Amino acid sequence: QSLKNYNTFGISVNATAFVDITSVDQLKQVIQQKNNKLPLFILSGGSNMLLTKDVDALVLHLNTKGIEVVNEEDDFVWIQAQAGEIWHDFVLNTVNRNLGGLENLSLIPGKVGSSPIQNIGAYGVEIKDTFHSLTALNLENLQMETFSNTECEFGYRESVFKNKLKNKYIITSVTFKLKKVPHTLHTSYGAIQQELDAMNVSNPTIKDVSNAVIAIRQSKLPDPKEIGNSGSFFKNPVIDKNFYQSLLEKNPDIPHYPVNNSQVKVPAGWLIEQAGLKGYRKGDAGVHTKQALVLVNYGNATGEELINLAKYVQATVLQKFGIEINPEVNII
Ligand code: EPU
Repeated sequence: QSLKNYNTFGISVNATAFVDITSVDQLKQVIQQKNNKLPLFILSGGSNMLLTKDVDALVLHLNTKGIEVVNEEDDFVWIQAQAGEIWHDFVLNTVNRNLGGLENLSLIPGKVGSSPIQNIGAYGVEIKDTFHSLTALNLENLQMETFSNTECEFGYRESVFKNKLKNKYIITSVTFKLKKVPHTLHTSYGAIQQELDAMNVSNPTIKDVSNAVIAIRQSKLPDPKEIGNSGSFFKNPVIDKNFYQSLLEKNPDIPHYPVNNSQVKVPAGWLIEQAGLKGYRKGDAGVHTKQALVLVNYGNATGEELINLAKYVQATVLQKFGIEINPEVNII
């Protein structure tokens, strides 16, 4: 089975075996009956991975659907989505119900089930801010377990599922606790306010913020249906404040976000652009022309070519700024 249509980078590799999963019962059954020699490979939206070779595994494509209100109080609604729901469709579903909390996360590629693994975030909001709990299948004993927000150990593009519980669970559903109106909107980050002004909106609704985010993302980020990509390829590096001060002397306009008393985060996109690599292209592998943090596949780039490009970008940034940037996507 070719995986080309199952990864947003559009890399052409094959899987030894492939099953489309539409229910949790089927998921358990397939795992119970599988040939023990073949490892499992869980495929969700394929939007945060770079495949570099054929996948000699049983690929489980998580395709379970369903969105359900599971609890409601005066001010909040708890809403549960199955792992295979498309993230953006789920966000729109909540926005159309006028529930607040996920609007800044509109148009992020991927599926609900993988959203907690790297605590997806954008425009000043991360899922950990409204995440209530998730259910997951324990691959050791095939029992279902529930994880609370604290148990997920969320951090910047981090969770327990990328660390000590890596490959030990399959997330099957996620529940968010969303706010009924009135809800405090987060419009101060990035260009949201500017976009709302351009839209002539003075008293924004949840839907307006979602629309503003969609417009910004569409103007900067390539649509994977047109140009293969995995969103941000690198994480924004966290550096010492003292080091940042010394960088400021040579680069007075270097942006930064506070992390804690001694560290700041600087945008890798800015570093890559200043290193002269925005729009750089070698064969079909390139640095996106509008957002240098995104690597793209113009057609037939291989995983290897994209890795080589990533290494070149890392080395160039390291040489110019003395800062190491590391991939955010999973390289497989
Ligand atoms: N910048 C440049 N040149 C570039 C790109 C960015 O100078 O080519 C500058 C911008 O002008 C701005 C700063 O860098 O001053 C930050 O840029 P932006 O707001 O576009 O965000 P980012 O830090 O590059 C992060 C997330 C994105 C998320 C945006 C918006 C990470 C790794 N990436 O990017 O997430 O959409 O903020 O909140 O934290 C993703 O993870 O796949 C993703 C797209």
